[in-house]
Amino acid sequence: MLTKANIEHEKLNPDSSFFKNALAPTCDESTLLSLLDNLGRLPAGFNGELFIPLLTHVNPKIRMLAAKNVGKLKDEKFLTALSQLASTEKNTFARREAISAIGRMRSEKAVSTLIEFLTDADPKVVLQVLRGLLYFKEKPEVQTALDSLHEHPNELIREHLANEVKNKSARLQGIKKDRHHPSSPDPLKNVIVHADVQEALKIIPEESIHLTFTSPPYYNARDYTIYQSYEAYLDFLTTIFKETHRITKEGRFFVLNTSPVIVPRISRAHSSKRYAIPYDIHPRLTDIGWEFIDDIVWTKPDYAAKNRNGGFFQHRKPLGYKANSVTESVMVYRKKTDKLIDWNIRQYDEETVEASRVMGEYEKTNLWHINPATDKVHPAVFPPELAARIVRFYSFKGDLVFDPFAGSGTVGHVALAHERHFLLCEKDAEYVERAKQLLDVALFTDAKPRVRSLTDLKSEFAERNHNL
Ligand SMILES: C[S@@+](CC[C@H](N)C(=O)[O-])C[C@H]1O[C@@H](n2cnc3c(N)ncnc32)[C@H](O)[C@@H]1O
Repeated sequence: MLTKANIEHEKLNPDSSFFKNALAPTCDESTLLSLLDNLGRLPAGFNGELFIPLLTHVNPKIRMLAAKNVGKLKDEKFLTALSQLASTEKNTFARREAISAIGRMRSEKAVSTLIEFLTDADPKVVLQVLRGLLYFKEKPEVQTALDSLHEHPNELIREHLANEVKNKSARLQGIKKDRHHPSSPDPLKNVIVHADVQEALKIIPEESIHLTFTSPPYYNARDYTIYQSYEAYLDFLTTIFKETHRITKEGRFFVLNTSPVIVPRISRAHSSKRYAIPYDIHPRLTDIGWEFIDDIVWTKPDYAAKNRNGGFFQHRKPLGYKANSVTESVMVYRKKTDKLIDWNIRQYDEETVEASRVMGEYEKTNLWHINPATDKVHPAVFPPELAARIVRFYSFKGDLVFDPFAGSGTVGHVALAHERHFLLCEKDAEYVERAKQLLDVALFTDAKPRVRSLTDLKSEFAERNHNL
């Protein structure tokens, strides 16, 4: 039985006949698979010809791994063998590997072969082709070939190309984002804006905030606001979350807590109507450019649910069953970007990253058991534990956390408790007063909340712009 250590040792001696024997197509399949899978980095001068007979092995996994190992050598002398494999291969994994190996050569000779595979039926093969071709994107034939893909039915291919076009135009215009990712405008820090959030958002500059956690009004289930129709309600939320997208920094998170609601029946002759808010708002969010990341389910104890079982409990007749709802959705989205999360993390200094680590026990599943909270003034507050998890998982110390529908301001004091800043917006004077009261007595900070009207906020930004 070959170990990784044996393999590494043998790689140091390229003249030995070890690999010639071990990679012979007549070897048993499991030994070949294990060796091909564990070869790791190949030393310069490794005899790649040993893989060529394996490209026609009966086992598709062996063909795939052989192609992968040829790819590591990045040598254009294998172009013909790999092109042949890509053209005849039925197994899509092996075909992908052959195309990837051709792309890795970065050889002009490979361009026409790659272009041929742009029409492959497997979108992942096409993505591999794209990767290989983008290296030669200045060549006119490559540009023409890529242009034909803008209408491709696969969303990942279209996205990849759109990013490429975006980056290219940014390069041409010499646009370099010089905004400092960890910082946010001072007039927004630890502020409660007493206003309709639709108006407040118009004043906030783009890419100002790091995280949004919010629970919007639940259609007409409570009386904060009455909407003319469910469509009008969804349109209202869409406008707010589109603006939230604009003011969010690149690649940062938006977490939305909602649940289906019941609008009660108007008489015994009518039935009540249940609206599936999380499901109806989701496609609108992804259209805006929020990328879906996670669906967390917040579970409350049974006693917290409104009893919908009364009738069924008595009559037990089918079709009349109604589940008592003990869950709410906590949907996690990220502002779509071609940058990886690592890029976001790298924008912070080591000290901040270290200080923001989520230490100790934490919930590893998407089922979060948290008791609901109550407040003597506001009827529907976040449990601080729920807000604390979101703030700790999705922001760094010093970040600006936004809640457009702030109510009693739970997101505010949780943000402060975890050394973040907050920006809250609430239109109801009684709730603004409550939020201010709760934030004022918070012992963990000297940072007093500042309540601002729209006019205050506008003039602070005007002054700031004047001084810049
Ligand atoms: C579900 S509550 C949020 C409660 C909050 N999570 C808390 O912990 O207290 C929704 C809040 O949005 C506020 N609201 C509704 N429409 C608004 C608007 N257009 N602008 C600002 N606030 C609004 C309501 O007054 C209500 O306090």
